[in-house]
Formats: sequence, C-alpha cells, structure tokens
Amino acid sequence: MRKAIVQQFKRPSGVLGRLAGWIMARRNLRRNEWVVSLLGIEANHHVLEIGCGPGVALELAAELATRGRAVGVDHSELMASVASKRNAAAIAAGRVEVVHETAEAAVRRGEQFDRIYAVNVAQFWDAPEETLVALRNAMTPNGMIGIALQPRNQGATDEDAERAAMRYEQLLLDAGFVDVRVERLDLQPRVICALGRVRPSNA
Ligand SMILES: C[S@@+](CC[C@H](N)C(=O)[O-])C[C@H]1O[C@@H](n2cnc3c(N)ncnc32)[C@H](O)[C@@H]1O
Repeated sequence: MRKAIVQQFKRPSGVLGRLAGWIMARRNLRRNEWVVSLLGIEANHHVLEIGCGPGVALELAAELATRGRAVGVDHSELMASVASKRNAAAIAAGRVEVVHETAEAAVRRGEQFDRIYAVNVAQFWDAPEETLVALRNAMTPNGMIGIALQPRNQGATDEDAERAAMRYEQLLLDAGFVDVRVERLDLQPRVICALGRVRPSNA
C-alpha cells in the first residue's frame, strides 16, 4: 500500500492520488512556506510554480504577489483541479491561474516570469538540463529560480539531500544561472533549495 501511494507522487490520479494530494497539503506545509520565503516575491511579481500539487505554495506565493500574478502548472489533472479549488477566490480575482500542463509546455507559452520555483518536482524531469534552460529563457532579467527537494524515499537521510543539493547547484550553473547558492532547512530529513538568478540583461 505504501509503495502504491509513493508512486502517486509523480502524477497523482484516482483515489490514491487524492490521498497523495491530501498528504502533500498536510505534510509539506513547512517546507513550502520556507521555499516561498526564500524567493523574495514582490507585490508586482509574475510567479510560476512547476508541479504545484494541491496548490499550497501557490496560495502562499499569491499572497505576496498581490498586484502581480501566480501561475501553477501540474501535469496531473487531479492536482490541477485540487489546486484550482484551493485557490478559487484568487483565480476569480485574476491573481492566480492553475494550468493542467507539463513544465516543458508551460515555458512555451511565451510569458516572462520574475520568479519560478519547483518543490519536490525536478527529480521527475526526464531532461532537467533542457528544462532548466527553457525555464531560464522564460524569466525576466535578474529573475530568481528555486529548485527544492526533501528526499522522501524510505530511509531517506540528510546525505541524500546533500547529494541533491550538489546536483541541482551544478544543473543551475550549467543552465546559465548566476549567483547560485544552496539553502537548507533542518527538517527530517533536511530540505535543500538551490537558488539562482538570471543575469541582468546589460551584464
Ligand atoms: C511530490 S509532488 C509535490 C507537490 C508540491 N510541489 C509539494 O511540494 O507539496 C510532485 C508534483 O509535481 C507534478 N509533476 C511532476 N513532474 C511534472 C512535470 N514535468 N510537469 C508538471 N508537473 C509535474 C506531479 O503531478 C505532482 O503533483
């Protein structure tokens, strides 16, 4: 049963997907609050969350981007629907949009974002290098990206988190981000967030 639920986190669907979404909304609140707090979201920012799941972090981001817009994408139809319900008031006010699509499709929409983040999602990407380059191209000069992970496999340790930190740091550098650094939150196991900036256009 545990294995069946864990498999749901990649693309929740059906009854078990609903359960996975409920678990995400309850268990991941602290880590989502922390990641959103690292991004320096300002009132007029245009923000994109990749793999928004049940929409908890999206709601937090939208509370900061009061005069901007927060877009959440998820390739799970079920999660896009759950996130839409959670953010219904902000969607009605035009401040939030939830889209059922992949990270890869989201960046082909031609929008430019000031902040992009993904929490426990990048481990599922088939070609993270290409996805990160595409994300960078969809960002404003000086924009900031945050790619976070809390390892959730059975018996996961802080060392697993540190391995992910090194990998994401290198992926961001390879994708052309600058000022790359890693922040850590000591939950059990540790959460890491690799942050990077887009070069100012005239640099
Ligand atoms: C482990 S959940 C994390 C959800 C949420 N970010 C959180 O921390 O609570 C991963 C989510 O990312 C979505 N996802 C995975 N790969 C994706 C992709 N390539 N494009 C869009 N969504 C994706 C899944 O459907 C799932 O809802």
